[in-house]
Amino acid sequence: MPAFPRRIVLPFAALALIAPSLLADETLYTSKEPSRDGTGKVYMGREIAQTVSSHAISWLERRDREAEERPALVMENLGLKPGDVVADIGAGSGYFTFLLAPLVPQGRVIAVDIQQEMLDFVEGRKKLKQAANVETLLGTIEDTHLPEGEVDLVLMVDAYHEFSHPREMMESIVKGLAPGGRVVFIEYRGEDPKVPIKPLHKMTVKQITREMAAVGLEFVEVRDFLPIQHFLVFRKPAS
Ligand SMILES: C[S@@+](CC[C@H](N)C(=O)[O-])C[C@H]1O[C@@H](n2cnc3c(N)ncnc32)[C@H](O)[C@@H]1O
Repeated sequence: MPAFPRRIVLPFAALALIAPSLLADETLYTSKEPSRDGTGKVYMGREIAQTVSSHAISWLERRDREAEERPALVMENLGLKPGDVVADIGAGSGYFTFLLAPLVPQGRVIAVDIQQEMLDFVEGRKKLKQAANVETLLGTIEDTHLPEGEVDLVLMVDAYHEFSHPREMMESIVKGLAPGGRVVFIEYRGEDPKVPIKPLHKMTVKQITREMAAVGLEFVEVRDFLPIQHFLVFRKPAS
């Protein structure tokens, strides 16, 4: 899959306007000379990637995602129950949100993003598809605004590596999860140099596992049934 063009990333300076604390001195994070697709901000040894802007909606909705990312297979492997509350964090255009919605007819899907334009697009599709159990929620770069202790499953597809405040975001996600609730990451495999994605937009199992341990999430499993992505599962301890 081709990496997305540079013009559809959100300039780091624009993110700083959304949250002035981005440029503040934070002990969790260090800085370096930004790489080509990086922000120059380093968390637990990895440089954070640039955020994809809402101009990328058509790229997120491209047809060839089906063959590359096998979204139907992802859905099958989530093990959702009809009443589950699911949060699609970094939902973008809602590509995965609307696949999740029919799987939780008695539950709901909360699509969270920091770009209102993305959520407007999701709202438009919600009307078209009459997906009454989809809600949109505008988060900040540090806070999902999820209701506390209610979410059974958080899904993050191609998103976590570009969160400018991964530690704060994960703490907010952990707060939103019900005890025993799961977090599933779909990320391009960073261990495999043949995966045709820019390095900062891939992640290794080792790196994600370290970052989740830092917020108290338990590793459950990694399933490599997807062509070029990891399917990684973590759980909030039940008590
Ligand atoms: C590459 S897109 C992926 C969208 C979607 N998950 C998909 O696979 O089609 C990443 C999305 O994450 C969003 N994002 C970045 N930082 C975020 C944060 N801190 N909280 C919520 N969303 C965020 C961006 O606005 C963007 O829409």
